[in-house]
Amino acid sequence: MKRFKESTILIVGGGYVGLTAAGCFAELGHRIHLVEKDLDRLSMLAKGEIPIYEPGLDEIYEMALQSGKIQLHQTVEEGLFGAEVVLLCVGTPPMPSGDPNLSIIASAASEVARSATGPTFVVVKSTVPPGTCEALELICLDSVRDGVEISVLSNPEFLREGRSVYDFMNPDRVVIGGEGEGVSKVASLYPDEMELLTLDRRGSELIKYASNAFLAVKVSFANEVAALCETLGTKAQSVLLGVGMDSRIGGDFLNPSIGWGGSCLPKDTSGMVAISKSLGLNSLVVEGAIEANDDTRRRIVDRLARVTGGLRGAKVALLGLSFKAGTDDTRDSPAIYLAGLLKRAGSVVVGYDPMARLHESQVDSISSRASTIEEAIDGADAIVIGVGWSEFGDMNPNSLREKMAGSVVFDGVGILDLDKYSEAGFVAMGIGRGHQDRFKPIIWRPLSWTIDESAEARGDVA
Ligand SMILES: NC(=O)c1ccc[n+]([C@@H]2O[C@H](COP(=O)([O-])OP(=O)(O)OC[C@H]3O[C@@H](n4cnc5c(N)ncnc54)[C@H](O)[C@@H]3O)[C@@H](O)[C@H]2O)c1
Repeated sequence: MKRFKESTILIVGGGYVGLTAAGCFAELGHRIHLVEKDLDRLSMLAKGEIPIYEPGLDEIYEMALQSGKIQLHQTVEEGLFGAEVVLLCVGTPPMPSGDPNLSIIASAASEVARSATGPTFVVVKSTVPPGTCEALELICLDSVRDGVEISVLSNPEFLREGRSVYDFMNPDRVVIGGEGEGVSKVASLYPDEMELLTLDRRGSELIKYASNAFLAVKVSFANEVAALCETLGTKAQSVLLGVGMDSRIGGDFLNPSIGWGGSCLPKDTSGMVAISKSLGLNSLVVEGAIEANDDTRRRIVDRLARVTGGLRGAKVALLGLSFKAGTDDTRDSPAIYLAGLLKRAGSVVVGYDPMARLHESQVDSISSRASTIEEAIDGADAIVIGVGWSEFGDMNPNSLREKMAGSVVFDGVGILDLDKYSEAGFVAMGIGRGHQDRFKPIIWRPLSWTIDESAEARGDVA
C-alpha cells in the first residue's frame, strides 16, 4: 500500500536540521512553513540565502522558496495555520553537567500548544533524552486550549553535516517513536522506499544517543589501535582496514584522526553518560571513549613537542578549524580543541580554514587567523592538518618548505602523502602511520606457552 502523501508541515528551527528538512521535504512535494526566531537568519533566508555552509542545500532551498513551497515565519502562531504536522528542530545544547538543555525545545513545544486550534501532531526531530516526548506532551497539555488534542512523537534525525541533503534523502532508516494515527501520519511524510522502524517513544529517543555513542566509541577505538601501530612501526590504515573488513565490524568510522567532535558526538556521549547516571546506571564504555578521545589529543601535543624540541614560542600553522571537512560548523571542533592545547603548551597558533565560522568563545583558542594557507605557514615551525579539506591534500611540500622556518608537518586526518613530505625534507608525521618518532623495538619476554620439556621427555605429552 502506498504510504507517501503530500502534507503541510510546520518546521520550528532553521538550523542544520530544520533547513535540511525544509529543503528536502519541499523537494519531495510537501508544503513547508519554516519558523526561525533569529531575525538575522530569517532575513537571510527570506533573500534566498542559506546562513550555513551545506553543499547542495542552497539550490533546493532557493528553488523551493521561489516556487512558494517554503514560506517563512517569525512565530509559530503565524506559521501553524493549516499545518498537519509540526517538526521541532531546535537546538538541545549541552549544559556543564553533560545533560542536554531542554528549555529551548520545551518553550517551542508550549508555543505550538498555545497556538494550536485543532488536533496537532508534534514531532521531535531534535536529539532528546528518553522520556522527553512524554514530558513535552504534559507541557503541551498544560498550555493547549480545551478540546484541542496534541500528541508528541519522536522522529530523530541522523544526517551528517557536510552531506546532510544526501543523508536526508537516503537515510539508512527512518525511526518513528509513538503509537496510533500519529505514527502513520509521520510515516506518510517519507517516500515509500525509505525503510521505517517504529517503536515506543523512549526507545526511539534512545536509538539516537546509542548510535552516536557507538560511533564515538568506534573512533576512539580506532585511535587506540593507531597508537599501538605507531609504537609497533606498522600502518594503522592497513590494520584498521583489515579489522573493518569483518562484516560484523564494518569499515566506517575506523579512521585514525585527531579524534571526534562536532555538534553531536560530544554532546550526545556526555548526554548518554548523564542519562545513565540519572537512572543509577554506569556508561563505562562511553566514558572510556570520551577519555580516550582527550588522550588522543594529548598524545599529539606530546609528539609535536618532542619533534620540535619544545612548543614554547613555536609557531604552528593549524590548517583546518571546522569540526570536519565539508562544514563551516566549529561546535566542539577537534582542531580547535587541539589549538587550545598547543597554545597552553606555549606555541603561537595561526589558524586557517576556508569555511569555518568561529564563535566568540572560540576566537581566543587561536593566536590569529590567516586568510590563506600561504599566510598561515609563513615562518611557521610546524604545520598541523586539523581538517581534511581537499585543498590541504593538494599542497606542494617543496613550496611550503621554502616559506617555513621549521620542517615539521603533522597530518591529523590522513590526507597527506607523507613520503612526498619526507622527500621534501620534512619531519613528516601522521596518526598511526608508523613514523620513526614513535617506533619502539620489541623484545619479547618468554611467555607461558614454552613447552615443559621434562614432561615431554617423560612421554606425558600426547
Ligand atoms: N547538526 C547536526 O548534524 C544534527 C544531526 C542530527 C540531529 N541533530 C539534532 O537536531 C537538533 C538541532 O540541531 P541543529 O544543528 O540544527 O541546531 P542549530 O543550532 O543549527 O539550529 C537550531 C535553530 O533553531 C532556532 N530556534 C530556537 N528556538 C526556536 C523557536 N522557539 N522558534 C523558532 N526557531 C527557534 C535557532 O535560532 C536556530 O537557528 C539538536 O537537538 C541536534 O542535536 C543535529
